Amino acid sequence: MGKEEFTNKVKRIGVLTSGGDAPGMNAAVRAVVRTSVYRGIDVIGIRRGWQGLITGDMFRMTTKDVSHIIDTGGTLLYTARSDEFRTKEGRKKAYDNCRLFGLDGLVVIGGDGTFAGALALSTEFPISVVGIPGTIDNDIGCTHYSIGYDTAANTAVEAIDKLRDTMQSHERCSVIEVMGHRAGNLALYVGLATGATAVLIPEEPWDIRRDVIEKIQAARIAGRTNFMIVVAEGAHPQDPTEIREEGLTLKSGAGFIIGALIKKHLGMSPRVTVLGHVQRGGAPSARDRVTATRMGHYAVNILAEGKTNRIVVHTEGAIHDIDMVEGLSMTNTLNENEKVVVKTMTGVY
Ligand code: F6P
Repeated sequence: MGKEEFTNKVKRIGVLTSGGDAPGMNAAVRAVVRTSVYRGIDVIGIRRGWQGLITGDMFRMTTKDVSHIIDTGGTLLYTARSDEFRTKEGRKKAYDNCRLFGLDGLVVIGGDGTFAGALALSTEFPISVVGIPGTIDNDIGCTHYSIGYDTAANTAVEAIDKLRDTMQSHERCSVIEVMGHRAGNLALYVGLATGATAVLIPEEPWDIRRDVIEKIQAARIAGRTNFMIVVAEGAHPQDPTEIREEGLTLKSGAGFIIGALIKKHLGMSPRVTVLGHVQRGGAPSARDRVTATRMGHYAVNILAEGKTNRIVVHTEGAIHDIDMVEGLSMTNTLNENEKVVVKTMTGVY
């Protein structure tokens, strides 16, 4: 069967990745390129996010540029944060390059900040924009899923399972700090998946006795001799008095603070592990590859249909799109059922 004939409202589009990178971004870029080629739309890759659009760090992409990348972490387009793009002058430079390269649409892959930049550009200049949610934090309010989350969670779970082996052998306490910026989605999910003794998240400021010490004591009384405490990097105390008395500040690190207080209250010496940027790398999981590919395919199609200022979202398993202004007004929420389940799982021994 011959290739379908398409009517495209855009002739040439750009694609960029912005903000913290996430496993699966390459799969999304691949899908944007392949869907565009399939529809007869030109694709220009923009390196280093918005900064690359300002400097014209751009190149024509073909299917060759995206072969063998569906299974790779990181982003072949690089990513960067751009202070200049926050200025009208910077966005004017960016738009001038859109005109120079003949771009009439942009697919931008990143988080809320990326979408806010895209909205500012398309509000000030006649360029269509569509966002694809890509961040391991999964903290974008308008979508249940953002690219990279599943891979990051699996990376953290694998690391915590390994830590539990040695904590078991030495009958120790492990405090594991996971990423998530100011959100607890990743920590909650990983804490549930690893059967943690306690899970601390920014959305529920902790009380060291109620949320950690008493849980360790209950586990010990039930015969446990190793304890796994999962702490979101943004987790913080209800009352900072005690950490100040210990000569600590929030800058001491969420995991290290909890470790110090466990030592103070129980005398044991927890081993603190900050998983850090290992959560941002690695080959994307099947879920991230499939979701990224579906979102990249969808983004090009709605641009081609003439839509703009849209965010591609994943809710209840379906991929659809939402107005960018509406999407940016929505705040991140935790999975309420995961919260209830974690509360139950960490409340009984
Ligand atoms: O937003 C993704 C993320 O990994 C956060 O979880 C983390 O706090 C932040 O990026 C780290 O930013 P950077 O890579 O600039 O240190």
